[in-house]
Amino acid sequence: MTKPLRLGMVGGGEGAFIGGVHRIAARIDGQFELVAGCLSSTADRAARSAKALGLTRSYNDYKKMAKAEAQLSDGIDVVAIVTPNHMHTNVARVFLDAGIHVICDKPLSTSLKDARHFADSVSDTAPLFFLTHNYSGTPMVREAREMIRSGLLGELRLVQVEYVQDWLSEAPDPDNKQASWRTNPALAGAGAIGDIGTHAYQLATFMTGETPEWLAADLTSFVPDRHVDDNAHIMMRYSSGARGTIWASQVAVGHENSLRIRIAGTKGGLDWSQEDPNRLWFTQLGGQKRLLTRGGAGTSAGVRIPGGHPEGYLEAFATLYTEAADAIRARANGDPVPAHVLTPTLDDGIKGMQFIDACLKSSAKNAAWVKL
Ligand SMILES: NC(=O)c1ccc[n+]([C@@H]2O[C@H](COP(=O)([O-])OP(=O)(O)OC[C@H]3O[C@@H](n4cnc5c(N)ncnc54)[C@H](O)[C@@H]3O)[C@@H](O)[C@H]2O)c1
Repeated sequence: MTKPLRLGMVGGGEGAFIGGVHRIAARIDGQFELVAGCLSSTADRAARSAKALGLTRSYNDYKKMAKAEAQLSDGIDVVAIVTPNHMHTNVARVFLDAGIHVICDKPLSTSLKDARHFADSVSDTAPLFFLTHNYSGTPMVREAREMIRSGLLGELRLVQVEYVQDWLSEAPDPDNKQASWRTNPALAGAGAIGDIGTHAYQLATFMTGETPEWLAADLTSFVPDRHVDDNAHIMMRYSSGARGTIWASQVAVGHENSLRIRIAGTKGGLDWSQEDPNRLWFTQLGGQKRLLTRGGAGTSAGVRIPGGHPEGYLEAFATLYTEAADAIRARANGDPVPAHVLTPTLDDGIKGMQFIDACLKSSAKNAAWVKL
C-alpha cells in the first residue's frame, strides 16, 4: 500500500470552519496523514487545538513550522492553508520556499497586486500549489464539463451562475469569527464576490472551458456600516459570443448555500445545483428534459460508492485532495502532473483575483464594462 503523505495545517483550530473539512477530505481516500499544525493565531489556542486532534508537532508560528518541518527526516510533504484570506500568500510563500507543497483555500489573496507578486515569485520548479475550489471536484460537475467538451451542447450561448446565501443578512454578532473577518476588507479583500463569487466564476470557467473577456459588475453593501459588498450582479461577455451572468449574494434571504449553474448552447442545456449535487439536468434542443444521476446508467462521473448513495461537499473536496496527492507523487518520481488531475492551481487563483479586481473596478465606475 502507498504510504500516506504527511500533511501539515496552518489555521483550522478550535471553532474554525474549513480546517475540519480539509482534515476529513484529506483522509477520505487514505492519501494523507495529519502530523503537524500551526492551528491558530494564538499560542494557547494552537496548543489546545493540536492536543484535541492528538497532534504532537504543534507550532505557534507558521514560519517556525516551515523551517522545523523542512529539517525533519519525517517532516511534512504538504501543508494545507486554511486561514483567513490575508494570510494565504504569506504562508504559502514560506512553505514553498522550504520545499513543501501547498494546498490553499480560496481566494488566493486579498488583492490582485499581492497575488501577482506572489505568483511572480513562484518558479516552475517550485513545489506544487493547489487551490481548493471544491465544487470542481463534484462528479456531476465533471460529467457536465465532459459533455460540453464533447460538443453535446453545441456552441455555448448562455452561462448563468448564482451563488447565494443569507447568513450575512444582518450585522453579525461580534463573536462570529467567520463573519467578522469576512466583513473586514483588510482580512477578506472583498465581500461576497471574493468569498463565493470566485467559486461561481471558477465553476463557470471550469465547466465551459471559456474565460470571459469583459464584465460589468454592480456591487452593493446592503447592511449598514458594512465595508465590503454583500451582493453582486455581474454580466459577462465571452470572446466566443457567449453571454453570462453571476449573482453572488450573502443577503438573499431563504438561501443557505445555493450554488446553481445553467449553461445553454446551440444544441442543448445543462442545469446543476450544489444542494442536489448528485443530479444533473440535460436537455437536447427539441428533446425531453433528462435527469442524469451520479453513478447512474450512461454517466461516466467517478464514484466512490454506487449511485443512489449520495456523495456531496466532503467527497468533492476529497477528490481535489486525492488528485493533489497523485500530482505530488508524480513530481517525486520526476513525472509531470498526471492528466486526470483537475484540482485548481495558482493560475486559477490568479484568474479569481483578476475577476475580483475587475468587479471592483467596474462597480466603482457605475457598473461600466471592464476588460478582464
Ligand atoms: N472552499 C470552501 O468551500 C470554503 C469554505 C469556507 C471557507 N473557505 C476559505 O477558508 C479560509 C478559512 O475560512 P474559515 O471559514 O474556516 O475561517 P475561520 O475563521 O473559521 O478559521 C480561520 C482559522 O485560521 C486561524 N488563523 C488565523 N491567523 C492565523 C495564524 N497567523 N496562524 C495560524 N492560524 C491562524 C484562526 O485561528 C482560525 O482557526 C478562508 O480563506 C475562506 O475563504 C473556503
